[in-house]
Amino acid sequence: MVEGRGVSGGTGIVILGAGQGGLQVATSLRDDGYRGAIRLVGEEPGLPYQRPPLSKAYLAGKVHEGGLDLRTEDFFREREIELLAPERALRIDRGTRTVGLASGAVLSYDRLVLATGSRNRLLTVPGATLDGVFYLRLRTEADLIRARLAQARRIVVVGAGFIGLEFASLAASLGIEVTVVEAASRPMARSLSVPMSDYFRQAHEAAGLRFLFETAVTGVTGEGGRASGVVTADGALLPADLVLVGIGVVPNVELAAEAGLAVENGIRVDEYLATGDEAISAIGDCASYPSAFAGGRRIRLESVQNAVDQARCLAARLAGRPAAYDAVPWFWSDQGRMKLQIAGLTAGHDEAVPRGDPGRGAFSVFCYGGGRLLGGGTVNRPAAHNIAPRLMARGLGVTPAEAADLGLDLKARAHALLEGG
Ligand code: NAI
Repeated sequence: MVEGRGVSGGTGIVILGAGQGGLQVATSLRDDGYRGAIRLVGEEPGLPYQRPPLSKAYLAGKVHEGGLDLRTEDFFREREIELLAPERALRIDRGTRTVGLASGAVLSYDRLVLATGSRNRLLTVPGATLDGVFYLRLRTEADLIRARLAQARRIVVVGAGFIGLEFASLAASLGIEVTVVEAASRPMARSLSVPMSDYFRQAHEAAGLRFLFETAVTGVTGEGGRASGVVTADGALLPADLVLVGIGVVPNVELAAEAGLAVENGIRVDEYLATGDEAISAIGDCASYPSAFAGGRRIRLESVQNAVDQARCLAARLAGRPAAYDAVPWFWSDQGRMKLQIAGLTAGHDEAVPRGDPGRGAFSVFCYGGGRLLGGGTVNRPAAHNIAPRLMARGLGVTPAEAADLGLDLKARAHALLEGG
């Protein structure tokens, strides 16, 4: 699908990164009436695809051929969005407003969008590159795991984050013995309150997962070039015929940094998602932005919702309707039978108020900072989850006492607040 060598005549908008965010910028630009050239540069072969099913239905073999694709080839043709894939951007020349590609092509731009996403953080211990040690972010990585999963009997998962636990619960459901090794003292500590982490720990243990918390991995052992086990700092050897590493991601900021753009955890953008160069913007996993929900603090979010909503906001600006980005962050994760949904930003909360009965597998936790609702999580309660972001978008929230009061009809209270009652 790569076209054109030499300097391209058309300028228009060039988008680097054909993940969910990059594709959404292109799609929304056309929806918003933008008529110039749009070129979308993607490193991976094929059409842009959804990543969330990779750690769930796709691994379980429940997604048909092409079922991950976000759009068909016809869509790109009809919308006149030129997809250059597989293709890699090597450098940005801000002086000439051009991007040099690995194929030798050079693209000119009026506006450049960096939607370069993030990449796996690598485990760097001895043996970590042995065959049988996998990561799970790309479709190609999921394909490799899928091919091995049927023969696996014992799996070690490194990292009790979202990827690690989605994968671990799927593997356990196939009858495989799974041990999860985590550096922190509880699962998903980056995003969850203590009561929510505790619930997931217990539920996963009841489903057969074994956890080792506050445990460092010091090596991977091998036999005949293949991984055979994981060694921990206390000297234990955990036998494994498959090792899945899910220890977080690193934002892809190098192109921006080499072009002299500011980087601060991610590519630094303002509330309009613009970098210090008015022609260049950044969205999604790779961008750090000042968040109204974090009191103006600069944050970088790794979620589909953030990538898609930032893409829409940016496309509107590029099509002539600028607005500051202020979407309420939300996130979901399916782990076995548990649907976890998180709204708002709960980092730094000083009070976590559970509501409902975790024993019944459906409950919420509301998180407060200085008495103000910062966000919360729900398990198997999609309806409750739908109201919270609407409240928070308007700076409203139920009090800790209301959240804890099971006699109070919280849904009615939320609607009353939304209607100004
Ligand atoms: P993560 O940040 O959620 O979890 C990484 C975990 O690994 C943390 O618990 C951390 O303490 C632990 N860790 C770090 N270094 C370690 C080490 N050396 N040994 C043991 N534990 C270590 O990142 P994860 O799970 O890798 O996910 C990657 C990305 O994909 C994240 O951005 C995540 O948000 C995203 N994702 C989104 C999903 C969704 O939208 N449902 C599902 C799965 C992943």
